Amino acid sequence: MEQYVIKGGNPLVGEVEISGAKNAALAILAAAIMTDETVLIENLPDVNDINVMLEAIGGIGATVQRVDRHRVKINGSTITDFNIEYDFIKKIRASYYLLGALLGKYGRAEVALPGGCNIGSRPIDQHLKGFRALGAEVDIEHGKIVAESDHLRGTHLYFDVVSVGATINVMMAAAMADGLTIMENVAKEPHVVDVANFLNSIGANIRGAGTDVIKIRGVKSLHKSEYSIIPDQIEAGTFMFAAAVTKGDVTVLNVIPKHLDATISKLHDIGCEIEEFDDAVRVVAKGRLRCTQVKTLPYPGYPTDMQPQIGVALALAKGTSTITESIFENRFKYLDELARMGAVIKVEGNSATIEGVEKFSGTRISAPDLRAGAALCIAGLATDGVTIIDDIEYIQRGYEKFEEKLRSLGGVIERVASEKEIQKFILKVG
Ligand code: UD1
Repeated sequence: MEQYVIKGGNPLVGEVEISGAKNAALAILAAAIMTDETVLIENLPDVNDINVMLEAIGGIGATVQRVDRHRVKINGSTITDFNIEYDFIKKIRASYYLLGALLGKYGRAEVALPGGCNIGSRPIDQHLKGFRALGAEVDIEHGKIVAESDHLRGTHLYFDVVSVGATINVMMAAAMADGLTIMENVAKEPHVVDVANFLNSIGANIRGAGTDVIKIRGVKSLHKSEYSIIPDQIEAGTFMFAAAVTKGDVTVLNVIPKHLDATISKLHDIGCEIEEFDDAVRVVAKGRLRCTQVKTLPYPGYPTDMQPQIGVALALAKGTSTITESIFENRFKYLDELARMGAVIKVEGNSATIEGVEKFSGTRISAPDLRAGAALCIAGLATDGVTIIDDIEYIQRGYEKFEEKLRSLGGVIERVASEKEIQKFILKVG
């Protein structure tokens, strides 16, 4: 098993190029199978979750041609199978997007039921409610969701919960249903808009993505296109907080600053200076960070995927901060790891009270999930000593060349695979 070993203490300084948005890419790859013509997708992040999704798509018979690290061609005309096995769902929940895509295109899909995961129980009732509203028969059989319909019809649907996944999944199925679908109380995340834009680029008729109401007029067939995925707002935010906690000066390149509004606002609150450009944002941190209050909310609120990163910053900030996690019930596990580094934290239900400390001390910790793992690396970079992070495969699922990008900013971090390599690193960094 690989680990990261980090020697903290250097401020991160410089420019870093942000990759394409993983969460947009996962859904767009699924949607790409909905046409029988070839789709070229660009700005694909080169991360493990994307490779698994491409395998799942290839597994049902679609033609997948990797042009280079960031571009792929997909042709859905060769699909022969409508069944996504548990192996894929276990590795990436987002393979359930093939449910909406296959149901919309062929009127049939079988996808293993996703279980819970490290950040919570994660029901999918709203996805199923949407498919049923479109006229599909949906059953759970032997651990699988089986959705079928010989005629999907447009519908008027109100989601009980604002869900990114349900909004995207039902939008895909409705794109090829007969007539008009109106979906209310939908998610407004940038990647929901990106998926709608992609579907429109292949001939769908979707209006309103990015607002509370999406209107979809179903079309009979979809066609080829070339599409470039939006930049990853969470990867960008992670590097912005890395600048904050290391008292650095980092410019994230290839971003859409508007998507980063909530993150920028919190960085301001804790005392960072921010400069916004057309497609870049610079974060400068001098002196000790300040405490604040933060509550995670659906977009445009502060993202739950940025909660651990701000948690690390607040654990080093002057004064008492609170974090309220309102999206997932189990997203505070990383705080136990931070406490092992010296942070002072009390968790009660879905809120955490954090008394900022002057500094962390390096130790051995584990990444509990993707975003928390990245946040703990940032904590390591802000620590004087050496931090060893286990279970880094979570981080590699969603961050392209994470350690290389941190190193290019002056971070001292290496990926190692044995105790011997750890000792070698420690000897080298002194
Ligand atoms: C997506 C993101 C994830 C992010 C999350 C919230 C992807 C691949 N993942 O996850 O990184 O943290 O949005 O921004 O894009 N819910 C229900 N019933 C449902 C669906 C969801 O009750 O049918 C609840 C969830 O338990 C959660 C809330 O709704 O409390 C939001 O979840 P949702 O927006 O669906 O998250 P995901 O799409 O799974």
